[in-house]
Amino acid sequence: MKYDSSVDINIAKAPTSKIDSVDFENLKFGHIFTDHMLVCDYEDGAWKTPEIKPYGPIQLDPSAKVFHYGQAVFEGMKAYRDDNDQIWLFRPDENFKRINKSSARLAIPEFPEEYFFTGLEELLKLEKDWIKKGFGNSLYIRPFVIATEPGVLASPGTKYKFMIICSPAKSYYTGEVRVQISERYSRAADGGVGAAKAAGNYAAQFYPTNLAKDAGFQQIIWTDANTHEFLEEAGTMNVFFRVNDTLLTAPTSDRILDGVTRKSIIALAEANNIPVEVRRVTVQEIVDAAKAGTLKEIFGAGTAAVINPIQGFGYKGEKYELPKLTDTYASFFKNKLMKIQYNLDKDQFGWRYLVKE
Ligand code: COI
Repeated sequence: MKYDSSVDINIAKAPTSKIDSVDFENLKFGHIFTDHMLVCDYEDGAWKTPEIKPYGPIQLDPSAKVFHYGQAVFEGMKAYRDDNDQIWLFRPDENFKRINKSSARLAIPEFPEEYFFTGLEELLKLEKDWIKKGFGNSLYIRPFVIATEPGVLASPGTKYKFMIICSPAKSYYTGEVRVQISERYSRAADGGVGAAKAAGNYAAQFYPTNLAKDAGFQQIIWTDANTHEFLEEAGTMNVFFRVNDTLLTAPTSDRILDGVTRKSIIALAEANNIPVEVRRVTVQEIVDAAKAGTLKEIFGAGTAAVINPIQGFGYKGEKYELPKLTDTYASFFKNKLMKIQYNLDKDQFGWRYLVKE
């Protein structure tokens, strides 16, 4: 528990649990939700005390601003169970800071830290049986905020709902991933909302991603909106390139999400003497490296996907395959990261966060 909390959360327990009907070995990402959810309303200029309720539909006015103007932000986190049945979070302070950063960009009121941590921990204690032991098993946690005020005046709402829902998870992507480098579409622009985890950022990706899928790829690598010469993010993840033995990734900006997995990989690379360059990466240098055989790996990094190797890419009608290496940076970082997350390795950076019973 982060606080000796004075927040007295009202808990209404679900009368029954659906846990026995869940096949934990065959989970499709984000399809099944646990028995409870956290709900906290903002009204009259203040966040009310959070409540935990049975998971279920919520009632909103059809004119609620979230439906019309997309005033909504979210986070992605995970909880892990170690071999001694302790429950851990990974760098939750980063998610807390980022949801408020995203909220600020979308004119949503800041959510109190004590409510975030106390609410989350109470919810996780209630749902602990949903967090299964075993490397790769986790509980995906989705905090989000929506504008609930009725009315279609295009201005920020005065009523909001902060909620947390949880879903047992294994892997996000299955099978090999090949990406199309975007020549036309962008995820974000300078001065826009790309650095925020705004719901609309993801909706805007669906159409170009469908086009990429029609062309035989699973995802896109987004390029910058101005010139389409620089590589930015991969689908719903930050992206890393290994050229020879150097790791390259784009710097965070207005357009690029400050990913928790991304910054953890950079710190792990530095601590393990892996050369890492955080700089703008051009499409041309990656195409040239692929042609020269010096492009060894591409991988995406994010909470849901963890680290996802990318086997090939398409650009301007050409397809490029990456070598199938045995010792990859992707597996090195995934293993390092997961060993910290599952309390199987020392936590030299203090990233692990124990959820006390
Ligand atoms: C996450 O990795 O947690 C995200 O929020 C990406 C989402 C599209 C699943």
